[in-house]
Amino acid sequence: MSESAYPPISNHLEDVEAAQTEGRRKMEWALQHMPILQSLRGEFKSAAPLDGETVGMAMHVEAKTANLVELLALGGAEVAITGCNPLSTHDDVSAALDAHENITSYAVRGVDDDEYYEAIDAVLDHEPTITVDDGMDMIAAIHEDRPGLIETIVGGCEETTTGVHRLRAMDDDNALEYPVFAVNDTPMKTLFDNVHGTGESSLATIAMTTNLSFAGKTVVVAGYGYCGKGIAKKAAGQNANVVVTEVDPRKALEAHMEGYDVLPMAEAAAEADLILTTTGNRDVVLGEHFDEMKDGVLLANAGHFDIEIDLVALEERAIEVYEARDGVDAYEMPDGRRLNVLAEGRLVNLAAPIALGHPVEVMDQSFGVQAVCVRELANNGGAYEAGVHNVPDELDREIAEIKLEAEGVEHDALTETQREYLGSWDHGT
Ligand code: NAI
Repeated sequence: MSESAYPPISNHLEDVEAAQTEGRRKMEWALQHMPILQSLRGEFKSAAPLDGETVGMAMHVEAKTANLVELLALGGAEVAITGCNPLSTHDDVSAALDAHENITSYAVRGVDDDEYYEAIDAVLDHEPTITVDDGMDMIAAIHEDRPGLIETIVGGCEETTTGVHRLRAMDDDNALEYPVFAVNDTPMKTLFDNVHGTGESSLATIAMTTNLSFAGKTVVVAGYGYCGKGIAKKAAGQNANVVVTEVDPRKALEAHMEGYDVLPMAEAAAEADLILTTTGNRDVVLGEHFDEMKDGVLLANAGHFDIEIDLVALEERAIEVYEARDGVDAYEMPDGRRLNVLAEGRLVNLAAPIALGHPVEVMDQSFGVQAVCVRELANNGGAYEAGVHNVPDELDREIAEIKLEAEGVEHDALTETQREYLGSWDHGT
């Protein structure tokens, strides 16, 4: 392992001990509500499935993620981690992780672009054998700048939709040189984390950041995928009038049949009290839309990157930009309208100053899947070819079973006759 020039979090803080104590307190609260990770802790501690592995991670470094990181270390791994967004790190949690003898954390909140990539490079100096990404920045850095590491990497895991899209594009170009599990796409993740997690935490963060209500407001949800569906449903549940914008005709129809108004952004923008983007795409809210918006509109993004709202065009139009509240920048237009951007257009539920990310229970599931995928790579990584792989179904089921048991929920099992019937083709009318 070579020494990195970029220092771990502890070198960035004045009172490291106080930060570690607070970070540890946050982790313990989260862990109390993470029965899946608790159950895996028992197994990982006794079986040490990750013995000899070095896990390199680029994730949102906050209390829930920290419990995943510690689980991997408990399983025998050496772990090096940094953030996957310049604003989503909780420095105290990062410091608590860095205090662990087998964990080094380079994640610091508020880094600039250069520092962000230097921190990724510092993680790569640990020469990971397994990578865990949220958005694919680490895998990209390995392939572009540090290809020499690929030979000893068994495989990787990717947490989010945007990362999986990027990986599939890379795979289509035959450019992905090691196997990666699309953790995002597995039912135990997408159907809960993207839908419920993003829906609840984005709206809660917007409400807390602005101290405003959704009731009677027009909330425009851009993108009716997994995240958009959750946001729309929960905003409607808080008595908002929900308008959906989409580019996929089937998703647009689905939103229409759910009872939401579906409009092009050019029309929706004029009606909006809040626009929340979650498309995973770029250039969704543009200059011509800003020109139509009402005074006081809130603009927020829950998609992975900060490219859904065109802040350059907004700034060009503004005569003044000022911080209206913590986490809210007001852009004043020449005609006096104020357009309010939350969390600099970065994913609001993680990057706003008071953001806590998804509810703990939801991340317990997502990170349970991550943990068993890392275990699978350590045990059987050689069985997977380079490219994007779906999470093996039995691993997803394993996490569901642990969660149901923790919740005290019993369910039926297929009988042998039923199993045979479902697998047969010769039982017609
Ligand atoms: P998805 O692929 O299920 O949905 C995206 C939807 O946006 C699709 O229906 C697509 O047709 C639509 N879309 C694309 N371009 C559009 C445009 N220009 N205008 C309107 N609609 C458009 O993806 P999913 O899982 O909902 O994720 C969306 C984004 O949220 C991704 O960037 C993902 O990484 C991110 N994400 C963020 C989380 C958070 O905590 N904030 C959690 C999970 C995912």
